[in-house]
Amino acid sequence: MSELTHNLAGRRVLVTGGAGFIGSHLCEGLLKQGAHVIALDDMSAGREANVRIFEDSPHYRFVRGSVCDDDSKMHEIFEGLDTVFHNAASKKNICLHDPKRDLAVNAEGTLNLLLLAKKHGTRKFVHASTGSVFGEPSVFPTDETHPMRPRSYYGVSKLAGERYVDTFHQLYDMDTTILRYFHVYGPRQESNEFGGVVSIFMRRIAEGKSPIVFGHGEQVRSFTYVKDLVDVNLRSATMPVACGQVYNAASGIRISINDLASKMLEFSRRIDLSVEHGPELVGDIMNFDIDNSKVRRELAVTFQQDFWGTLRVSLEDIGGFLSID
Ligand SMILES: NC(=O)c1ccc[n+]([C@@H]2O[C@H](COP(=O)([O-])OP(=O)(O)OC[C@H]3O[C@@H](n4cnc5c(N)ncnc54)[C@H](O)[C@@H]3O)[C@@H](O)[C@H]2O)c1
Repeated sequence: MSELTHNLAGRRVLVTGGAGFIGSHLCEGLLKQGAHVIALDDMSAGREANVRIFEDSPHYRFVRGSVCDDDSKMHEIFEGLDTVFHNAASKKNICLHDPKRDLAVNAEGTLNLLLLAKKHGTRKFVHASTGSVFGEPSVFPTDETHPMRPRSYYGVSKLAGERYVDTFHQLYDMDTTILRYFHVYGPRQESNEFGGVVSIFMRRIAEGKSPIVFGHGEQVRSFTYVKDLVDVNLRSATMPVACGQVYNAASGIRISINDLASKMLEFSRRIDLSVEHGPELVGDIMNFDIDNSKVRRELAVTFQQDFWGTLRVSLEDIGGFLSID
């Protein structure tokens, strides 16, 4: 990564949501760069296993706590902190049941971290956002300037988080970068109903149930490999061009839900199962065609294009899903 101008080696960095799926990959990438990583997680959705893998690393520390806390523990974390990678969030499916929790975690929690970062003079704030801030895209390919009309509590609360981040950049010149993620997959992905469509299909197939595709199944998703997002985060934290920017951190790959379900069945070799169709979901988004040219151009990112190969490797890594020879 020759374009990087700031070296994270020896720097104290915070990964919120560090026991989660993407956060744990980020911890791994940062440790490889020689950073001193503090992973903060309230364990509402985090996994102990995602903390245990780093327990032998002298430069990794796990702190159990909430991004909404403003106590001595949080001030100690921010003492001498170089960068915040804010990945903690109340996720989409939880929001449907508890929209106020989304607001508290995704909006207020972000504001709390920004206030702490400002108070302690933190150099950089990299914020994980989501394509859900767009709602149903109407212009294709969809670039960063597309109107934002979220259609979920989650999307609204994540948009509020984004707006706070941008406000701190504008008001206080804070060095911020907003990364919008889309349908992330990879090793260590949860197989539960709180994950995305890959997680849900994985869980059903592992339980010997057919994957259920809602509606005709030709709706398209833009899947992005988690390790590419680690690279985007590292570049955002270290390249001056990323200051104050928002990027679509998406691979550009477009896969239909029908193809995903069939291929996952093929990988699992569950010839006893077949793709089933259910009623169309209200508010289901039909098309994603995300323009990632800005992040590719400015941060020189290349995205993994072998979706089926990396999906297969990820599913093998998760284990118990595939019956490999
Ligand atoms: N996975 C995707 O496809 C996807 C897509 C778009 C955006 N994102 C965003 O990426 C980020 C990471 O998502 P993920 O897929 O790794 O989810 P995840 O649920 O695996 O990780 C989120 C982590 O945040 C923790 N958390 C929740 N509330 C907290 C709080 N109040 N304080 C501290 N920790 C808290 C959870 O315990 C969990 O470990 C989130 O900001 C999410 O909105 C993810």
